[in-house]
Amino acid sequence: MKVGIIGCGYVGLTTGVCLAEIGHYVICVDNDVEKIKKLLAGKTPIFEPGIEKLLKKNKRKLKFSTNIKEAVIGNDIVFIAVGTPSNPDGSPDLSYVESVSREIAKYLDDYKVIVEKSTVPVETAQWIKITIEKYKKNNNVKFDVVSNPEFLREGSAVKDFLYPDRIVIGVESERAKRIMLKLYSKIKAPKIVVDTKSAELIKHASNSFLAMKISFINAVANICELSGADVEKVALGMGLDRRIGKDFLRAGIGYGGSCFPKDVDAFIWIAEKIGYDFSLLKEVKKINQRQRELFVKKIEDSLWIVKDKTVGILGLSFKPNTDDIREAPSIYVIRSLRQKGAKIKVYDPKAMDKMKQLFQEIEYCNSPYEVAKNADCLVILTEWDEFRGLDLAKVKKLMLQPVIVDGRNIFDPETMQKFGFIYKCIGRS
Ligand code: UDX
Ligand code: UDX
Repeated sequence: MKVGIIGCGYVGLTTGVCLAEIGHYVICVDNDVEKIKKLLAGKTPIFEPGIEKLLKKNKRKLKFSTNIKEAVIGNDIVFIAVGTPSNPDGSPDLSYVESVSREIAKYLDDYKVIVEKSTVPVETAQWIKITIEKYKKNNNVKFDVVSNPEFLREGSAVKDFLYPDRIVIGVESERAKRIMLKLYSKIKAPKIVVDTKSAELIKHASNSFLAMKISFINAVANICELSGADVEKVALGMGLDRRIGKDFLRAGIGYGGSCFPKDVDAFIWIAEKIGYDFSLLKEVKKINQRQRELFVKKIEDSLWIVKDKTVGILGLSFKPNTDDIREAPSIYVIRSLRQKGAKIKVYDPKAMDKMKQLFQEIEYCNSPYEVAKNADCLVILTEWDEFRGLDLAKVKKLMLQPVIVDGRNIFDPETMQKFGFIYKCIGRS
């Protein structure tokens, strides 16, 4: 099939290369000229495992352009995968989705399925439909709007696309259903075909539920700390119950990234707008924020006086295997410690270039050991594999004081004590 994708971010680009991988002809469009230049040169503008390999492998089936017209004319399906950032009140900013819909309308030459891939509030498909109807030049041309939410985790987005737990397709016509099922026929996974509103809600409900699981285990971690229990053992005991499931029960410094914080805000806002006070989700959000504050307090408690102390930070990305720092807890931690007068040294295998755009005054190091050198405290904010394999004896020798505050529970407290560290982690002692 012939597919156009508008928006080459994490979601759009992954969708594009994976659809080419399963045999489709894809043209990816973005209004960011630099991004398209890179893609035309065979390079990926984002760090995402597997993307570059698929770009090369499928280069004959993939095209790139800055012109929306090319994503529409002659294609069977057009994906909208532009950003939907949060407004200050938590509502999603849908202005890009709206303007792209108007552009699509201009070039609609024949029947097409327009797919909303971006995460959008319930009823957005209806609005896209109204917008295209209003702006389309050719009155006789027909189209359908479909909701097809993504469940791609950064770091494993390609795998999540090609081997998903399920594919959700929200349609209002048999014709669109047939086309979407054909598009995904090569992917073996349950295909859930529902109405567009239910599909839109599945996305917000799923991400909010996962965020809730994380806040729940973080709340339990605090109770563990207060009572002397071990949250890792509690999570294991809970997770083996198949009704609960062991995933997303890792206690830590709270969730970040471009999706969970934004989607929780959006779901609270959507619910309020249609008359429901989603107080449960408001608490999920509060617990997540409090988790960061408690973590900074743990660092302060370990240092006594923060001013002029050197804090070494390992991990900046919001999770491992990505260079993404959007809503990363590291940003909050660095900002708070700097306000209190600490000197900051950092290391991350992938995310330092992005962080340099936010903080110029901190020291960027070439290795975890360079960070540890003369540090009063070492703080772990992302569970990169590289950190699990650290030579702890070497780290201890390099530090001024052997204090480690671990926001991701990557070490065993007993082992750390044996090495002579003062080791503070989350929900266990
Ligand atoms: C985005 C949304 O934020 C998310 O809610 C949704 O589920 C999928 O799309 P992501 O791909 O991570 O997720 O966003 P981002 O990396 O910001 O990419 C959006 C791309 O759209 C950017 O490359 C941007 O340049 C492009 N864009 C934006 C356009 O091409 N045209 C526009 O009018 C606006
Ligand atoms: C998420 C969704 O999982 C995915 O389906 C898609 O809709 C986009 O949003 P992503 O943001 O890439 O994916 O990462 P994810 O692996 O879900 O992690 C999100 C955050 O939660 C990270 O900051 C991570 O560190 C944190 N997390 C995750 C925990 O703190 N504990 C856990 O047990 C799991």
